[in-house]
Amino acid sequence: MSKINLDNILEVVKGNFSYHVTGKFKQLPPKHFTINVTYRCNAKCKMCNIWKYGKKDELTLQEIEGILQDPIFHTVEDLAINGGEATLRKDVVDIVALSIKNMKSLSSITYNTNGLLTDKIINNVKQIAAICNDRDINFTIYISLDGVGRIHDEIRGVEGAFERASTTILKLKKIKNEYGFHIGTSCVLNRINIEHIDELEKWRETEGLSQSYILIGFHDAYVHNLDRMNDVGFNDRASQEKLLKVIKRLAENKSLTNFSAYYWYDMYNMITKGKKRRSLCPLIMEGAAFDAYGDVYYCLSEQSVGNLKDGTFSEIYYSEKAREIKSKIMKERCPQCESGCMVDIGVRNNIFSYLKFLCLKNKYEAL
Ligand SMILES: C[S@@+](CC[C@H](N)C(=O)[O-])C[C@H]1O[C@@H](n2cnc3c(N)ncnc32)[C@H](O)[C@@H]1O
Ligand code: SF4
Ligand code: SF4
Repeated sequence: MSKINLDNILEVVKGNFSYHVTGKFKQLPPKHFTINVTYRCNAKCKMCNIWKYGKKDELTLQEIEGILQDPIFHTVEDLAINGGEATLRKDVVDIVALSIKNMKSLSSITYNTNGLLTDKIINNVKQIAAICNDRDINFTIYISLDGVGRIHDEIRGVEGAFERASTTILKLKKIKNEYGFHIGTSCVLNRINIEHIDELEKWRETEGLSQSYILIGFHDAYVHNLDRMNDVGFNDRASQEKLLKVIKRLAENKSLTNFSAYYWYDMYNMITKGKKRRSLCPLIMEGAAFDAYGDVYYCLSEQSVGNLKDGTFSEIYYSEKAREIKSKIMKERCPQCESGCMVDIGVRNNIFSYLKFLCLKNKYEAL
């Protein structure tokens, strides 16, 4: 969870200025970066079809090394290693090491996993934590956990998935202080788990873990899951009511440092009143990504802006075509987008609205 203190107030003001003023006139250099190192996957999740698509040739480590030599990466502050299941890529630790070498402003790395391959994950985490500690980089491993027991197994399409993911989490917990990393768990709210969230909360509270929630999205990019709406979407009144109850609780959990409450408040208003999203998403202004196929994105949920076989990352990121796609995404997609990625950073870039939100009466009805 991000904290506002005297040390970073200046950073927040600078961030607000570049986001709201400079960003209007020119493309800002990327600060928030994702590398989808593979689209191979060892699960068969109900809300994500990536596991069906990871069949093409992937960039080699040498190719990734070449890409990362572009000076554009010097401004990147946070990096997410994502997939597919990143653990299936044998050289994932090398990719992290190369990224750290070339991203000179890097202060945090996250690694997202489904937690199924316990030994490999632990091995990777130990090595990445060691490299991060040498460079004073904050390292967090996020394990997806969508429910307890059979609920998680059903959503992930793998029998025994909860047992394996929870074993990974508990083993990581034992070594986290020695190796110096953080653990987070993350849950996608969907129709299957929505009435079992209390059970999950109890589990993670007993284990003393932090939990973040993501609202399920449906996209014809990245997770390619438009065909799963009937299985996992909130498309009936009963499941919508259950969802709103959970969102309301998350929105009511206001505090100076729990930025995500503002995002959930926004989601509540979007769903119930058809309002436009107000909480900023930093991805479209200062985010970027590339994936295992060399495709470059401003926002992974939307269309690619080019491929690295046609130019360097800088050339693609600053191209006219990329600017056009970006304007289209900002106009047509962002106002309706449910993505909760990087909510903390987005809220920091919209600090005055956030403070106003905090001053609203605490009763939910007043929101
Ligand atoms: C695509 S996965 C890749 C990392 C890893 N395989 C995992 O499942 O954690 C990245 C994150 O997206 C979440 N996710 C999957 N499908 C989603 C959807 N339809 N909407 C929102 N988040 C989704 C996953 O639960 C995970 O937290
Ligand atoms: S959510 Fe993660 S584990 Fe599930 S299919 Fe998608 S990439 Fe694989
Ligand atoms: S479409 Fe959604 S995830 Fe993408 S930049 Fe816009 S708000 Fe962010």
